Amino acid sequence: MITMESNKVTLSMSMAEIVKDAGQNRFGNFNYRREILMNVLLINGSPNEKRCSFTALSEIANEFEPLSITSEIVHIGKAPVRGCVACMGCMKSNNGHCVFDDDITNSLIDKMNAADAIIIASPVYYSGIAGSLKCFLDRAFWAGRGLDNKLAASVISSRRAGSIAAFDEINHYYLKSNMHVVGSTYWNEVHGFSAKDVAQDLEGLQTLRTLAKNMAWLLKCIEIADKSGLSRPEYESVITTNFIR
Ligand SMILES: Cc1cc2nc3c(=O)[nH]c(=O)nc-3n(C[C@H](O)[C@H](O)[C@H](O)COP(=O)(O)O)c2cc1C
Repeated sequence: MITMESNKVTLSMSMAEIVKDAGQNRFGNFNYRREILMNVLLINGSPNEKRCSFTALSEIANEFEPLSITSEIVHIGKAPVRGCVACMGCMKSNNGHCVFDDDITNSLIDKMNAADAIIIASPVYYSGIAGSLKCFLDRAFWAGRGLDNKLAASVISSRRAGSIAAFDEINHYYLKSNMHVVGSTYWNEVHGFSAKDVAQDLEGLQTLRTLAKNMAWLLKCIEIADKSGLSRPEYESVITTNFIR
């Protein structure tokens, strides 16, 4: 049974039942539904831990709080993140991890699997996303197996130009991973070279607060649908062809 008290959804289903209800995903053997619902992972893909991208993500996290959505901001860090070398080791092992376990990638994959929604922020570097974020995303989304049906959004910080190319770049990962991209009243971008600049971007910050509201509402809709017995989609096993063969 579900009861709604203002914005808070109260569930009477036991946690054990929630886990038992979890379905398989497109890859057949993974089951990542969690015991604690409605948690959003915010990944700061900038090498700078607490500057523009962080300020943007903090605006979202602050908006989530009164809406009973828990969130965590995780920083990709300054340490090197290796790129995908197309070894296909992850396809052989099929365990949802990259075979190279010497950087942040696998632990971030685990965090993504454990979240109900993911928001990834990046600064614009030459009209694209930051290099270490790109390296992480290639490996995480190629090896990862647990993202189906999660909500997702991208947030971009630039000094001046290139936001839309970078925004599209992150959305490409979500949109081929059976994830659902949440929108706002503008593309999710802020402008600045410092956190102080971003704090002055009133339109950008408002766009992010609206994104947070939309994501919170959709998470609650999904939770209520799950608890009321509406099944999640059952997928066919994946057909992979190079064009037609
Ligand atoms: C290597 C590099 C390339 C950059 N390229 C661009 C660019 O193409 N367009 C732009 O507007 N800003 C560019 N910038 C500025 C950052 O995107 C901008 O300051 C951003 O808000 C920084 O976010 P952060 O503080 O979270 O790292 C670049 C910065 C660096 C370090």
